[in-house]
Amino acid sequence: MNQSDRHSGADRPYDIVLFGATGFVGRLTAEYLAAHAPDGCRWALAGRSRTRLEALRAELGSPDAAVLTADSGDGQALRGLARSTRILVTTVGPYLQHGDPLVAACADAGTDYLDLSGEPEFADRSYLRHDARARETGARLLHACGFDAVPHDLGAYYTVRQLPEGVPLRVDGFVRTNAAFSGGTFASALGAMARGPQMVRAARERRLHEPRRPGRRARAPLGAPRFSGETGTWALPLPTIDAQVVARSAAALDRYGPDFRYRHYASVKRLPMALGGVAAVAAGLAVAQVPQARKWLTARYEPGTGPDAQRRAKSWFTVRFVGEGGGRRVFTEVTGGDPGYGETAKILAEAALCLAYDELPKTAGQVTTAAAMGDALLERLRAAGIVFRTAAVR
Ligand SMILES: NC(=O)c1ccc[n+]([C@@H]2O[C@H](COP(=O)([O-])OP(=O)(O)OC[C@H]3O[C@@H](n4cnc5c(N)ncnc54)[C@H](OP(=O)(O)O)[C@@H]3O)[C@@H](O)[C@H]2O)c1
Repeated sequence: MNQSDRHSGADRPYDIVLFGATGFVGRLTAEYLAAHAPDGCRWALAGRSRTRLEALRAELGSPDAAVLTADSGDGQALRGLARSTRILVTTVGPYLQHGDPLVAACADAGTDYLDLSGEPEFADRSYLRHDARARETGARLLHACGFDAVPHDLGAYYTVRQLPEGVPLRVDGFVRTNAAFSGGTFASALGAMARGPQMVRAARERRLHEPRRPGRRARAPLGAPRFSGETGTWALPLPTIDAQVVARSAAALDRYGPDFRYRHYASVKRLPMALGGVAAVAAGLAVAQVPQARKWLTARYEPGTGPDAQRRAKSWFTVRFVGEGGGRRVFTEVTGGDPGYGETAKILAEAALCLAYDELPKTAGQVTTAAAMGDALLERLRAAGIVFRTAAVR
């Protein structure tokens, strides 16, 4: 399939299908699409319960949106979904549990796929199983299209563009937020923490298979905890998918220079809070290894639930970047509202609209937002209220 066939979508009834529309982030994404999709956009709400999907459609006041049903374990129904649309957006997680058959269906059908997975093992397995097929069909497969990892991926991209070309570059990112999380996020995080050895194995297999470009190096090593003079805060290394995504963008795009390094940190103002954060992560890792404890904790944060509108309205995030190379040093910043839900739904929906309507570089296979959408998505997010700015250049 060539790229122009894929993007015409003339043979498909929908431009965008949102799978998982009745979940916590799914609903917010549906609300965003109902309010912001351009006239003429053919879109559908998909999930496992027709009754709940129809109720959601009525709530949204979007009689034109179609309703489609499928279960994440029903390969045939998922293939039907994938063939019905140009772009498939899914919020059905945990993705290690539910995700693979839908990625397979999209790779096979040449359908662009977007998810919210912050599970590194899932992205690595998806690469190993589906990247080659997606390259053949022209499908673009994008994981982690929410707060994880878009502000970090596009923030690093924006920072790199303030630095000289053709030289080694170093970027550090420092994240701060006051946000709470949903039951779905909690279940996904706990599930991923319980699979340390499998995650390491998948990453190793991926490294063995993924081609390297000669003369280019792109790394995301885990930094050490330290006090950061640049931000005036304690910096704790964050082993999330974000840094991996930034390094993949750097590997794909020449603009990041011949030798690029990214380090990703949580930024904490006071030392006791930093120590508390380290203790909480260590406790989470320990608890995740015990199946009974995992079950008990998951039951306390039910899927489908999350912070209410009032709590979300008070939530915010800031990611500060310090970039240097070729004798220049820049300080940039990405800021927005509630990261996990309001902004995640906005980012996911804008990424889908960007793939559907914007002029983009030709890419296929597993790709990052910076490589597939770069400036076009950055401008969309700016227009939607997420700030990307340069604070200082030295
Ligand atoms: N990248 C990020 O920054 C970010 C931010 C937030 C969330 N997330 C991730 O996004 C995912 C969703 O989070 P959430 O809070 O929205 O979770 P949630 O409320 O539990 O939603 C999960 C969705 O999956 C659906 N589902 C579950 N089992 C299914 C099955 N067998 N067949 C079809 N659909 C099924 C649910 O359907 P029903 O509605 O019918 O129950 C629901 O729509 C999680 O993996 C979370 O970690 C990522």
